[in-house]
Amino acid sequence: MKDQFQPQDLDGNPVTPGLPMAMLAEITHRCPLACPYCSNPVELTRAAQELDAETWARIFREAADLGVLQVHISGGEPGARRDLAQIVASVRDAGLYVNLITSGIGITRQRLQELDTAGVDHVQLSLQGIRPDMADRISGHPGSWDKKMGFAEWVTEIGFPLTINAVVHRQNMDRLPDMIELAETLGARRIEVATVQFHGWADLNRKALMPTREQAGFARQVVNDARGRLRGRMVIDYVPADHHAIYPKACMGGWGSTGLNIGPDGTVLPCHAAQTIDWMRFDNARDRPLADIWHDSGSFNAFRGTGWMAEPCRTCDRKTVDFGGCRCQAMAMAGDARATDPVCSKSPLHAQVVARAEEDAASDTADLIYRRMKKGG
Ligand code: SF4
Ligand code: FES
Repeated sequence: MKDQFQPQDLDGNPVTPGLPMAMLAEITHRCPLACPYCSNPVELTRAAQELDAETWARIFREAADLGVLQVHISGGEPGARRDLAQIVASVRDAGLYVNLITSGIGITRQRLQELDTAGVDHVQLSLQGIRPDMADRISGHPGSWDKKMGFAEWVTEIGFPLTINAVVHRQNMDRLPDMIELAETLGARRIEVATVQFHGWADLNRKALMPTREQAGFARQVVNDARGRLRGRMVIDYVPADHHAIYPKACMGGWGSTGLNIGPDGTVLPCHAAQTIDWMRFDNARDRPLADIWHDSGSFNAFRGTGWMAEPCRTCDRKTVDFGGCRCQAMAMAGDARATDPVCSKSPLHAQVVARAEEDAASDTADLIYRRMKKGG
């Protein structure tokens, strides 16, 4: 059944969606860490609402039939699920590439070995700092640094390709060169340097985490230099500080175009922050086939094509480059998910956004609001 939104171009011609390459499976929101920039929603899903392994197996088969090639198993901390190896094996059985995104906390060496046997192809490990004090403070987990360093060793001993995921912000951006060096030392083939995105938990911590304009420029330079130096040895993916940019990022590579996210309870989302768009309704993979949701649901079709765009995007020659930026950022800052992303210099709200970012960046607070599940989770 088709929902109310039908994707169109600016002339009213129908737009046919492409196929998703990747699926993010957030199998749990439980996590031993409490990072203050977590991309999970502020309202976390409780353990009792999580999909069981059999339902995940069915969803992975549906994803493979739909055209998905790789599954990112994430959370929360996926290791919080005792049946993680069973879930991984079902991704492999569906013929899909398995990337395990983990904090490295709570997975023993023996379990990691079992996950290798079950079918994990690649491991992505998050780091919160380049020293124990910083890493433990940002993650809100004493002892996290030592555990992560031990985990990284096991990853290379077992022979998984390793990606380091480093979220950077005002409190650690100056140490970015050391972070890249650490990734090299750990034998990583890739590092994702992602400037914190101010949705959900991170938005509660804007004053403590917003980088300064100078830091954003410094990070860009460090990444450019390191890309040249490390060519052929380590790939650097970079999500810049868009509050200090001229144009927004092409969030999700365009809404509903290349990937989909599934939450612990089976809610299917076009991006991790989509639930902040208060008028949007989301389907659940428990009760609707994934292909139907991808092709025909209102949530996925709402921002496909260009027909939904307002000015200045409508007449801008970058509308098929950045697709108007991030819908969730437009919702958060302009109060309208259809608006031009206010970080764009052409947005009427741009000056206001920059002023607020500068004000947050100038704050001297370092106090963090940590991610926590409400009692009873
Ligand atoms: Fe992108 Fe819209 Fe800004 Fe043009 S006006 S650069 S399409 S966000
Ligand atoms: Fe939702 Fe960017 S985070 S579109």
